[in-house]
Amino acid sequence: MQASVINIEKIRKDFPILERKVHKDKPLVYLDNAATTQKPVQVIEAISNYYLNYNSNIHRAVHELAEEATAAYELTRDKVAKFINAPRREEIVFVRGTTEAINLVAYTWGRQNVGKDDIIVTTEYEHHSNIVPWQLLAKEKGARIEYVGVDDGGQLMLEQLDRYLETGRVKLVTFSQMSNVLGTISDSEEIVRRCKARGVRVLVDGAQSVPHMKVDLQRLGCDFFAFSAHKMLGPTGVGVLWARRDLLEGMVPFNGGGDMIREVHKYETTWNDLPYKFEAGTPNIADVIGFGAAIDYLEAIGMDRVREHEVEITRYALEKLSEIKGMKIYGPMDAGKRGGVISFNLGDIHPHDLATIIDEDGVAIRSGHHCAQVLMERLDVSATSRASFYIYNTKDEVDVLVRALNRARELFRI
Ligand code: ALA
Repeated sequence: MQASVINIEKIRKDFPILERKVHKDKPLVYLDNAATTQKPVQVIEAISNYYLNYNSNIHRAVHELAEEATAAYELTRDKVAKFINAPRREEIVFVRGTTEAINLVAYTWGRQNVGKDDIIVTTEYEHHSNIVPWQLLAKEKGARIEYVGVDDGGQLMLEQLDRYLETGRVKLVTFSQMSNVLGTISDSEEIVRRCKARGVRVLVDGAQSVPHMKVDLQRLGCDFFAFSAHKMLGPTGVGVLWARRDLLEGMVPFNGGGDMIREVHKYETTWNDLPYKFEAGTPNIADVIGFGAAIDYLEAIGMDRVREHEVEITRYALEKLSEIKGMKIYGPMDAGKRGGVISFNLGDIHPHDLATIIDEDGVAIRSGHHCAQVLMERLDVSATSRASFYIYNTKDEVDVLVRALNRARELFRI
């Protein structure tokens, strides 16, 4: 195994799934990390330990199990706040994932603040979860959606953002900190700065960035921030909405039910304190606890080293993939300006065919529109293939990918 800034050999031992074979005897080469990452034993054990030893509901009972479960659940909130340098723990709202976080903002803050002829600005490289909630809101309110375009190098055309901001009608600007297709890392601080100069609210989708690089919310200065646990070694079904306290205080609740109330009378209800006002019902206790273990795991490696490893492997992959005849790679070619996500097309092989062929060699990649059809239209393709890396991937695995792609190329006589 080639050397890396992190101890991959040791890390891989924590992921038993990486030992498995697929198609009888092919070692698994898992390169679909932008969709979801694998989970280390530490995360799996944290979840099973909760169910085996202190399973209980939280915030409700005074017995010992309930207190242990409440403490473990709330400890994850502290870990999240520290991980993204959020100013206050009560601004961390646990939701099911990035999608729910964005919908929560659209359904509450959006309905309270966006009106007829207002503009919501998003970008051409958004995931559907950062487009569709805004379309629903815009249709309901008679508002407009505008898109910041993507140039041929995969970068956002910020002069378009300026033009929208100059109209004085923009209520919200929302964008991904890292594109799930192109891997482009947005110039987030600059975008936020331009919006703030005009008093415009900003939502940042951190689903692809938080797992892969150090994110500092106090530096970023946005108003809303969303991300998911399952793309950063944690379980599915847990995510985070962070929003500034004054905004959360002004927002109506999203879901009504237990735990989000202070007092309920026949015709009136008052709300619980933050963040509980937005966490109705029994939450996903076990998986929030598992998420805490995922954060511990990443902290122990260090996010700077996670990023450094990914730059190294992405640089290697860009170089090796570029050498393949008929290869078209999308997004920035400088590994320092992108995350560990590489979308490509090989000749005229349909991405689903390509993914199926290389799966026979044990290589798992994603193919399709990647929940980003607006971007597919911009790229003028119906689909791409996408390889995405994480802490346990090696350059040897990139070599397996390249060999598998060359086999596909020969099959298709490209
Ligand atoms: N958003 C995930 C992806 O990009 C599912 O694959």
